[in-house]
Amino acid sequence: MNNIFDTHAHYDDEAFNDDRDALLERLFSEGVCGIVNQGTTTETSKFSVRLAEKYPGIYAAVGIHPECADENSMSELSVIRELCKNKKVVAVGEIGLDYYYDVPKDIQKEIFAAQLELANELSLPVTIHDREAHGDILDFIKKYRPKGIVHCFSGSREMAKEVIKLGMYIGMGGVVTFKNSRKAVEVIEEIPMESLVLETDCPYLAPVPYRGKRNDSGLISHTAQRIAEIKGLSAQEVLDITAANAARVYNIN
Ligand code: NI
Repeated sequence: MNNIFDTHAHYDDEAFNDDRDALLERLFSEGVCGIVNQGTTTETSKFSVRLAEKYPGIYAAVGIHPECADENSMSELSVIRELCKNKKVVAVGEIGLDYYYDVPKDIQKEIFAAQLELANELSLPVTIHDREAHGDILDFIKKYRPKGIVHCFSGSREMAKEVIKLGMYIGMGGVVTFKNSRKAVEVIEEIPMESLVLETDCPYLAPVPYRGKRNDSGLISHTAQRIAEIKGLSAQEVLDITAANAARVYNIN
């Protein structure tokens, strides 16, 4: 298979410290055509940019993740803004709301809103993280009307419909291959292929039969195979369509 586009990865993670370069070189020789590495802090955002400068097929998203937000985050926005000037930066991300962890909601909301405004000001798409925060995420999307992706989508089919109506894309990864993935399967059934992009969120969320192991962009072929079964397409067709969608949402030619 080819045309594997991973719209959401974390190759800065220490899980890749022993073999990062060897792995990335192998992936690009085995059908991966593009990767967007997501920032979560100023440090990992800088790492994403460095990685993107090293590999033609890697692009960077820069931003502060809700789980990493604290009272200093607003003062770090100038670093994110500066990084956005780099040609390989294609999005502000990963940003959003995470009500599973106990970072105060007002801190999360303040930095999320500021980064949505930054993305709009710079005409960049966003990659949104939504964990147990569906209602508030929808409210923010309606208020700021960003372009971009709701990644690792975990909402209902009704929410998916709304997100698409608002012009955003749904990001899906290994979860759709899990046994308990009924909700994700329903979302795939609901949405048109034109609104879907594939992702890993690696090193986490490896698809079956690699569940629990370290994930990488090559394993997207298994996610594509599962989606192909649901949609009545071939896995390669799923990869071709979603790679084109990824290039469109991130404005990559
Ligand atoms: Ni992520």
